[in-house]
Amino acid sequence: CGIIGYVGPQPALEVVVDGLARLEYRGYDSAGVAVLNDNRLETEKRAGKLANLRGALEQGPRTADGIGIGHTRWATHGAPTNTNAHPHLDNDERVAVIHNGIIENFAALRPELEERGCKFVSETDTEVTAHLLSQELKDRGDNDLAAAMRAVCKRLEGAFTLVAMSVDNPDLVVAARRNSPLVVGRGEGENFLASDVAAFIAHTRNAVELGQDQVVELRRDSVTITDYEGLPAPVREYHVDWDVSAAEKGGHDYFMLKEIVEQPRAVADTLLGRVGIDGTLTLDEMRLSPSDLRDIEKIVIIACGTSYHAGLIAKYAIEHWCRIPCEVEVASEFRYRDPILNRQTLVIGISQSGESMDTLMATRYAREQRARVLAICNVNGSTIPRESDGVLYTHAGPEVGVAATKTFLTQLAACYLIGLYLAQVRNLKFGDEINAIIAQLARMPEQVEKVLDTVEPVRRLARSLSNSTTVLFLGRHVGYPVAMEGALKLKELAYMHAEAFAAGELKHGPIALIENGLPVVVVVPSREGRGVLHDKIVSNIQEIRARGARTIVIAEEGDEAVLPFSDELIEVPAVPTLLQPIVATVPLQVFACELALAKGNDVDQPRNLAKSVTVE
Ligand code: G6P
Repeated sequence: CGIIGYVGPQPALEVVVDGLARLEYRGYDSAGVAVLNDNRLETEKRAGKLANLRGALEQGPRTADGIGIGHTRWATHGAPTNTNAHPHLDNDERVAVIHNGIIENFAALRPELEERGCKFVSETDTEVTAHLLSQELKDRGDNDLAAAMRAVCKRLEGAFTLVAMSVDNPDLVVAARRNSPLVVGRGEGENFLASDVAAFIAHTRNAVELGQDQVVELRRDSVTITDYEGLPAPVREYHVDWDVSAAEKGGHDYFMLKEIVEQPRAVADTLLGRVGIDGTLTLDEMRLSPSDLRDIEKIVIIACGTSYHAGLIAKYAIEHWCRIPCEVEVASEFRYRDPILNRQTLVIGISQSGESMDTLMATRYAREQRARVLAICNVNGSTIPRESDGVLYTHAGPEVGVAATKTFLTQLAACYLIGLYLAQVRNLKFGDEINAIIAQLARMPEQVEKVLDTVEPVRRLARSLSNSTTVLFLGRHVGYPVAMEGALKLKELAYMHAEAFAAGELKHGPIALIENGLPVVVVVPSREGRGVLHDKIVSNIQEIRARGARTIVIAEEGDEAVLPFSDELIEVPAVPTLLQPIVATVPLQVFACELALAKGNDVDQPRNLAKSVTVE
């Protein structure tokens, strides 16, 4: 979910709704706002995308004092209806609350509130907090909204960011956070709070991080942060270095299209300052000393979704370059299987947002088990890097399209940097290979540029397949996770059945799926160094073609061996096998995006998804 709060001289409704537009990628099942009007709380909420809320707001003339809160929802409890949309009010309509996260003990809290006469109108977990706050304010009798918020938070279990305003505090927005994101934006005579800086970047770039279990009181001229006991908490300010235009579409119809095109820049920015001309790598901000890194005996990578695919690719590179055993696991499974970790284990948590609850919980668990935790993350100051021993930021800039594109390529670049750095620090003997790869890595932005220059035929191909119901993806070695990423993109964007298999595994069952005309995308490894692998996949292509598949082959330029068996050939620049995912993924992103557009889907906000999932 995305949340925003505002106190200041501007018309609150506009500030809040514009902020929500920038947060909509966090969830778009419903949206709602609350403002103060003539000493009354006024709310408007609508199921569906923000446009529905905007439409409703245009119906009547509205003025609002300079205070308001807004929410864009990714539904957890209760269907995405108008009633379940946030804000939620108490029965006296004196307190309005919005919430991101899950209140796990809401069912246990409900009977007590019902006994006190509270009437529940929604099916959400959030509504209990509105009633709890109102009861607490009644019990206290002093209208101290912050104190009431502290008392309520102590009773809640789960993960939440809660934001509240009340009729009796017309100049105050109060928020609290546990495990869910919240940042404050400090302006001149106005202040903001939101799930992420995108919501207020048009107004201020001065941000304040909120820590775990803290409460913030936002007034026009002050920001007060305390812990749940009411004691002052340290304030950590930072400056946001990207601007509004970075989060706008820049002439493209969709953010996703813009973000695909931005990939050469994003990869270059991620390598910038880290790869010296002589091949020396500088990763100081990793905050792990060379001696820490020399001690490592095992690496475990944990992540979700697209970030998980980056981890799978990293495993091939790290094990080959560093000779350290490396496991990769989806974060939601990791901590529940009693994994073996110790001080010599390096856990790498990969998360674009730095807020995915599954990954956060997994990295937290790893630290409790004394493992060293390194985050690869795109959002400065987000929770996962804050709670890790070290961090390597990707510099992709803000990614608004829900399906990850440029952040995936930069995650790969960051993983390669870590693998190569580890190999250097551990003084491995094949230094020449490492140096050659570093030189190739530095050239990847131009290679991606070349792919982008030649993707037009991929677009045509995708449009021609818009009536297909299934597409299969095959790969070997690093091409296998690339195939998985291609399939995930197609599921996310085109809502199609898309599945990836290790090409060698196909004959053990999935080959039964092949029928006449079925499109099968095959990612063919580079010929360099791994000829065997290349030849094996050429045989696999023949096997499926003999059974009627329509083969769509992604291979490096000049690969003549695949020509006779490719119904469609997509060429990418010749690069070392381990780096090939950076170029081979790009046509798959374009393919999925174009196919989804041909079906009339919204590629920036695919149905049911959210960019940052802050529940487990
Ligand atoms: C969500 C998004 C995916 C993303 C995953 C992990 O499910 O829809 O696109 O890959 O979260 O996100 P993270 O921010 O942790 O990389």
